[in-house]
Amino acid sequence: MKILLTRRLHDFAIKELKMKYKVEVYTGKIPMPKKLLISKIKDKDGLICYPYDSIDADVINAGIRLKAISTFSVGHDHIDVKTASSRGIVIGYTPEVLTRATADLTIALMLALFRRIPEGDKLIRNDKWRTIFGPYEFLGTDLYQKTLGIFGMGRIGKAVARRAAGFEMNIIYHNRTRLSLKEEKRLGIKYVSLDNLFRTSDVVSIHSPHTPQTHEIINLKLFNKMKKTAFLINTARGKIINEKDLAIALKRKIITGAGLDVFQKEPINSRHPITKMNNVVLMPHSGSATVETRKKMAEIAVKNLILSLSGRKPIYQVRV
Ligand code: DGY
Repeated sequence: MKILLTRRLHDFAIKELKMKYKVEVYTGKIPMPKKLLISKIKDKDGLICYPYDSIDADVINAGIRLKAISTFSVGHDHIDVKTASSRGIVIGYTPEVLTRATADLTIALMLALFRRIPEGDKLIRNDKWRTIFGPYEFLGTDLYQKTLGIFGMGRIGKAVARRAAGFEMNIIYHNRTRLSLKEEKRLGIKYVSLDNLFRTSDVVSIHSPHTPQTHEIINLKLFNKMKKTAFLINTARGKIINEKDLAIALKRKIITGAGLDVFQKEPINSRHPITKMNNVVLMPHSGSATVETRKKMAEIAVKNLILSLSGRKPIYQVRV
């Protein structure tokens, strides 16, 4: 069988794949151009792809021999799951192994904003330390007893809640379906409406998948309900937020700041107004980007593909 990787993967992973298949790895500029992807997928049985690849109906239908898609990610909004499933193509993904790393980065962004870490770093490098000697200068805010609003209470949302409990935050959440009372009690979280989440949180953190239902669900209407002192964190998907509205909310100081790991278009253009703002901490889509996590993701992505191509169930399968 023949497989295609739209990007390099760890050496051990490629080695394992080469023992079973004829492997083609695209090594050019990321993402792989669609035309090239369409021409390369024609004779492939399997595909390993990444969130920046758009695996739409054109690509899937060009893959006339395609039996399995394995994405190196938990998010799968870059894949036309309906079209793939209608063709009987199995889709594997890599949840769980990246939960901790993504939750850690969420807390890191929160602390960076609350304690003004990037500003402090810049201040020292620009030789401005002397300007903030007074007792009231360069103050941040405590996480302690602040209200954290979690939008999307899946694996990552829960991991963020567990970490936030360590900072003694008051944790509320909104989710498509409410958790059981037992689980709410165990996590120390309280279910609220979306409206209430935005009205009462000192920091809102996004952890839902990007779906037609959550597309740009976070917009100016909700920002206008937030406290002026509140922050927004997004380590989920950029398209859940209306980015133009977020830029307005940040510019007009409707909210105090934002910590963003994901954007509508990635990489975000350095001329984008959000990249010019001081009240924003930015990361280049790095939720899962730790040595340990990426290695585990590679292991799972390979296993998912091998299992699917041999007619078995992958470890983690995307369902329609
Ligand atoms: C994912 O796996 O979906 C994360 O966003 C990292 O790419």
